[in-house]
Amino acid sequence: MQSRHSSAVQNNSSGISVQGLHKSYGELPVLQGVSFDVARGSILALLGANGAGKTTVVKILATLLKPDLGTATVNGCDVISQAAHVRGSLSLTGQFAAIDEILTGRENLILVARLRHLENPRAVADALLDRFSLTEAGSRRASTYSGGMRRRLDIAMSLVGEPAVVVLDEPTTGLDPQARLEVWETVQKLAQAGTTVLLTTQYLEEAEQIADRIAILHRGRIMATGTLDDLKTLMPPATVEYVEKQPSLEEIFLSITGDATDRSADTDNPEDTPDSAT
Ligand SMILES: Nc1ncnc2c1ncn2[C@@H]1O[C@H](COP(=O)(O)OP(=O)(O)OP(=O)(O)O)[C@@H](O)[C@H]1O
Ligand SMILES: [Mg+2]
Repeated sequence: MQSRHSSAVQNNSSGISVQGLHKSYGELPVLQGVSFDVARGSILALLGANGAGKTTVVKILATLLKPDLGTATVNGCDVISQAAHVRGSLSLTGQFAAIDEILTGRENLILVARLRHLENPRAVADALLDRFSLTEAGSRRASTYSGGMRRRLDIAMSLVGEPAVVVLDEPTTGLDPQARLEVWETVQKLAQAGTTVLLTTQYLEEAEQIADRIAILHRGRIMATGTLDDLKTLMPPATVEYVEKQPSLEEIFLSITGDATDRSADTDNPEDTPDSAT
């Protein structure tokens, strides 16, 4: 894994640039001319319903799938002719967690750091465990983690080696509101530190809360792209209505369940600790 200072980085202001992508599976046209750009150090949310083609776009960017037509660059490198460079600067957190259940959280991170030939895999693992509030749980097998902890470990694993571009395919699907907020915070910090982030989501609120720009993908076509304010201008002018503000269920839930950062209940289970933690 190359760092964001890699020599593979080329002089291109886009972290990700996608132009006219087409992809069919047999007779089924899935992408029908998809184009969008993600500026370096910004977050683009690719918003679409089930089957819209989000994962297909992600797989093309991650060099796992070739488009039938069109081009895509990641960190200035073409996904087909410079696939190795793309793999060096892009990290993918897939729609389904890719952690090894038998290993501890710490061992999972050390494994990835070793695969990426980093100098001090243990220090890298410990720093990421700390950053994702998994230090206590780090010596437990991943099979004992809650869904939210699993997702945090999965994202932590994709950040090993400080990739310049991070792609997250539905990072918060299945998470409780608190865990979702934690993932949002993590993603925002990444972009603030200069990482380019593409995330796919089917949650309108997620796109609204954390994305700098939003691209709406519907049946293989980008229907609109822009900031939330840009997209609002596509609608007719707002009419003014006076309604009593009621708390949302999310606000009630978070108010009853308490502090955002209290994850200690997740990490207190001393059972199932392997004999030989790495
Ligand atoms: N390997 C494949 N072979 C045939 N059809 C496929 C294949 N992969 C995806 N598809 C089809 O392509 C369409 C888009 O799938 P894709 O996984 O890109 O959607 P998605 O937007 O990620 O959906 P979801 O929100 O459910 O993850 C769907 O109709 C899906 O059934
Ligand atoms: Mg998908």
